[in-house]
Amino acid sequence: MAIRLGDSAPNFTAQTTEGEVDFHQWLGDSWGVLFSHPADFTPVCTTELGKMKGEFAQRNVKVLAVSVDPLGAHRGWVEDINETQACTVNFPIIADPERRVALAYDMIHPNADDKATVRSVFIIGPDKKVKLTITYPASTGRSFAEILRVIDSLQLTAKHKVATPADWKDGQDCIVAPAVSDDDAARLFPKGVRKIKPYLRYTPQPNR
Ligand code: BEZ
Repeated sequence: MAIRLGDSAPNFTAQTTEGEVDFHQWLGDSWGVLFSHPADFTPVCTTELGKMKGEFAQRNVKVLAVSVDPLGAHRGWVEDINETQACTVNFPIIADPERRVALAYDMIHPNADDKATVRSVFIIGPDKKVKLTITYPASTGRSFAEILRVIDSLQLTAKHKVATPADWKDGQDCIVAPAVSDDDAARLFPKGVRKIKPYLRYTPQPNR
């Protein structure tokens, strides 16, 4: 079944390159990113897994990859990734040969490929609710800068009554949430509110 924003992220237990993981327990109070790879020993996926550096941990985000190949293949592939991408893969990769996780998260789109997964991304909050989904085709590697940008926005808007405009990056002005009155905005955002239209009000990023 399709997974929509606000849904509870399906829980599962799975074998990974770092041992057995109970997904919800493993997440604990952290944010999480679950992302799928069409197959091991494929070039685009190899470049993607080499990109997962410390930026996720700095944001209290745990990263978990899934591929429908078995654990032995994952182990050999991790060696290749470390060698070719000059990195050390330090997050678990789920072995999902029975496609339990792939099916629970609707990662197999039969009209694209009936065996391999598409490139799915799920961002999951500490409340275990799905906060973002993105689906890329197998032939397009993901932008991890974009995924980090969305995490910054999600973590900010979870704590402050703001939204973030197009192409926003951490540190830039935010939009005052439409439900906030002008009086409340003046109180909530002491750095100032710039009103362009009644529905378009900017304020400096409140947590900076
Ligand atoms: C890749 O990861 O390189 C890939 C996987 C499936 C189809 C095309 C590319």
